[in-house]
Amino acid sequence: MKKIMAALLSGVLLLFGLASAGCAKREETTIRYLRVGVVEYNANDTFISELVSCLKDDFRDLQREDLNISVTVKDAAGSQRTENTCVEELIDGGCDVLCVNLVDRATTSTIIDLATEHNVPIVFFNREPVREDLMQWDRLYYVGSDPTQSGEMQGELAADLIRSDSSVDRNKDGKIQFVLLEGEPGHQDAIVRTETSVSTIRGSGIELEKLSYSIANWNRAQALTRMSQLITQYGSSIELVLANNDDMALGAIDAYDRKNITEADRPAVFGTDGTKEGLSAIEDGTMAGTVYNDKEGQALAMAKLAVAVVEGADLSSFNFTDGRYLYLPYQKVTTENVATFRAKQQGEN
Ligand code: GAL
Ligand code: CA
Repeated sequence: MKKIMAALLSGVLLLFGLASAGCAKREETTIRYLRVGVVEYNANDTFISELVSCLKDDFRDLQREDLNISVTVKDAAGSQRTENTCVEELIDGGCDVLCVNLVDRATTSTIIDLATEHNVPIVFFNREPVREDLMQWDRLYYVGSDPTQSGEMQGELAADLIRSDSSVDRNKDGKIQFVLLEGEPGHQDAIVRTETSVSTIRGSGIELEKLSYSIANWNRAQALTRMSQLITQYGSSIELVLANNDDMALGAIDAYDRKNITEADRPAVFGTDGTKEGLSAIEDGTMAGTVYNDKEGQALAMAKLAVAVVEGADLSSFNFTDGRYLYLPYQKVTTENVATFRAKQQGEN
């Protein structure tokens, strides 16, 4: 009993001590240390690495006199198993919040279980988890963009060009012969962008003839190989290339360059993302248009959300869909407005 009393008393004294110390040194700020863990599905993905670089800058800029933020980035290198290990290591290392770019959108249970168990909130990004998974716990969020919108915009850009420039229909048969370069199978952005882009062009009254499609997993080198095969097969009858992202559009352009095919025999190529090199291809006229995937907006939303969630701040200023999703709008990019996007990217650096 005596011992308990003594312990209680020292506790009370300690409290008084702390309180008075707090009063005396009012001007001293207590610094909060926030540790952020980021996992990329694959560090070789151009769009993701540009996005993560913005994210690091944003966390740096959100630091305050009383808030120190450290960011650790890990690469899952395309393996969900590796990603699960990365998450485990980050949590063991004391991370307060995670930003996770899933490898496999459908296999989230290990990560969500770990996070829930250790009460570490997660902001998923770019690869959207299955809805039921995200709804399992109220500290899980998603930041990305709506792929339907990007498909529509790509379709509108292509339709505008086809209508305004009769030379796209090179063989003058009144139809546009096209090929598709698709991202990873099973990725929401690949499936939806393809479907919507094609249906938007058709919906605008243009007759399309699909020659073929090829899966190039978002990757420029794979797109170069696939496109080279398509050129060998279809030659100059390809009038339009619709690529699910800029890296694959650039890979298609590389294929034409390798074969030394002149401007007059090349198709109109459209991408999505507005990566640094994607914008360069619009500037030099080799790519006809792209759809800007707002990495600056997504990164800033993620960084602000991650900090707010850990600090228990009011989240009402976030423009959530269904309370947990933040979708940033896409924008069309052509030669006319490419300078605006270039400036936006440079502003980030
Ligand atoms: C897409 C993007 C692709 C690729 C992919 C990875 O949104 O357009 O370039 O980065 O995400 O998940
Ligand atoms: Ca034609």
